[in-house]
Amino acid sequence: MSMAVPPVGIQVPGTFPSLALNVLVLACVFLLTKILHNLYFHPLSKYPGPKIFAATSLASSYYLFRGTRAYRISELHNRYGPIVRFGPNELSYVNEQAWKDIYGSQKASTGIQLKKKARVTPMSYLSLFPNPSDEAHNRLRKVVAPGFSEKGIRDRETLLQQHVTSLILKLSEKSGNPVDLIWWMDCTASDNLGDMVFGQPFGALETETFPEVLHQADASLKELAFNILYEQYLLGKIWTKIRERFTPRRVNSFFPSFVAENLQKRGKRLAEQGGNGAEVNDINAGTSRGLQPEEIAVVSVDLMIAGADTIITALSLQALSHEIRSTFESESDMTLAALQNLKYLNAVLNESLRLFPAAPETTRRVTNPGGNVICGDLIPTAVGVYYWAAGHNASSWHKVESFIPERWLGDDKFKDDARGVVNHFAVGPRNCVGQTLALAQMRLFVARLIWNFDMELCDESKKWWGMRTFVLTYAKPPLMMKLKPVVRFLFAKTLAFGVLYADLLT
Ligand code: HEM
Repeated sequence: MSMAVPPVGIQVPGTFPSLALNVLVLACVFLLTKILHNLYFHPLSKYPGPKIFAATSLASSYYLFRGTRAYRISELHNRYGPIVRFGPNELSYVNEQAWKDIYGSQKASTGIQLKKKARVTPMSYLSLFPNPSDEAHNRLRKVVAPGFSEKGIRDRETLLQQHVTSLILKLSEKSGNPVDLIWWMDCTASDNLGDMVFGQPFGALETETFPEVLHQADASLKELAFNILYEQYLLGKIWTKIRERFTPRRVNSFFPSFVAENLQKRGKRLAEQGGNGAEVNDINAGTSRGLQPEEIAVVSVDLMIAGADTIITALSLQALSHEIRSTFESESDMTLAALQNLKYLNAVLNESLRLFPAAPETTRRVTNPGGNVICGDLIPTAVGVYYWAAGHNASSWHKVESFIPERWLGDDKFKDDARGVVNHFAVGPRNCVGQTLALAQMRLFVARLIWNFDMELCDESKKWWGMRTFVLTYAKPPLMMKLKPVVRFLFAKTLAFGVLYADLLT
């Protein structure tokens, strides 16, 4: 009996659906096998964590997308301990040794540094922050670092102080009315960054205009979050590759023209100075040694993005006010060097950064082929310390959710605190190059604000801590405060004598 073979090109009813069905069944089998492998046969399957996180990347992506992953991972650490598996290929650590093994220089031990993943940045791959090549990173870092050293920042003290003085003057004009302190501090920090990077402030304080570059920096960080999300899935990876193929160097059109414009203005100012460079003492003056123009541009963007998201601390502490107002006789005594020695102020900053780290997520690293040894185990995957989880880990901190600066001052009640589980500025060759500047700025802001004003939190901001949401950094809501100028004893005394004198004359 002969079978009727359909002619080529003629569709037989039922063939297409059954093909689709076969593909679907195959996909399900593949997925199921993958999930089973992830759960029971994967090298990370021995690490604790919820099964739903270990099975696929979906759960982790869901929380990243909602902007609450750092919170969730913190909860998981409180439940499962210092190492948590929160994705098929990702481990999070709250552990002092993990800092050394993941971020520290590996030269002394294995000699193989953990890697950063290459990422699309607003300008190109060549920049400092996401540079996957240790050699290229090292070269850029060596040129940038001197400007951010203790000496580099001390040399800029006059400018730093000037910006804070402008802030104080602006706030004095508004005293008694509610002001959004975050908005004003962001403006001050960005003017300072403008000075540091391009030799001129952006005029944010003067014109009372929030600089566009801060919005754009925020947008870039959000884009980075999405890239991290995409790269966990095959389709996402393909999409990222396609985007990189067609827009390899210019993802965000704002930054290239912003940098070009500012460098041009800078060049013009230099030319007006006769080209001797005396006026423009900025990072670009230092970076021009040994860098290509394109590298200068991308490093400038790195600094704008990394430095843009600034610092907010609990400003209304009695003990801090006492330390600041009783240590100094006048505001001009508040030099960077003097503020560095204020124990309580430093403890307040440490405690603020513990509870409210500038970046609540992690900067993950990828182990080398063959794995790296982390906390005694050979790990073949992506790893990181989550800043939020480390600061909020109940087994590491006594009274974990309370703001207690005394824990940084040797108070006996907190002797068992594991202070080494947090490193606000990371450790190792890729730690924060801007930390001296960040600390100097924070000390100046806090000390001079407290010196000048009594501060009262407005009702609408009383739940400020509860309002935050974040992707990689925070979406900070306004922090509304009323500032009242401090009536100084000396000032009050002069006033009293004035009144007395006037009385005597009448
Ligand atoms: C409270 C404020 C700040 C905190 C907590 C902070 C924290 C950090 C951390 C944890 C890293 C390491 C990232 C990694 O592991 O990949 C980092 C890197 C970096 N930070 Fe900061 N930062 C702050 C302010 C600043 C400021 C003001 C600047 C300068 C304008 C800056 C510039 C940078 C740069 C350029 C990098 C990359 C360094 C490299 O890859 O070599 N940061 N920061």
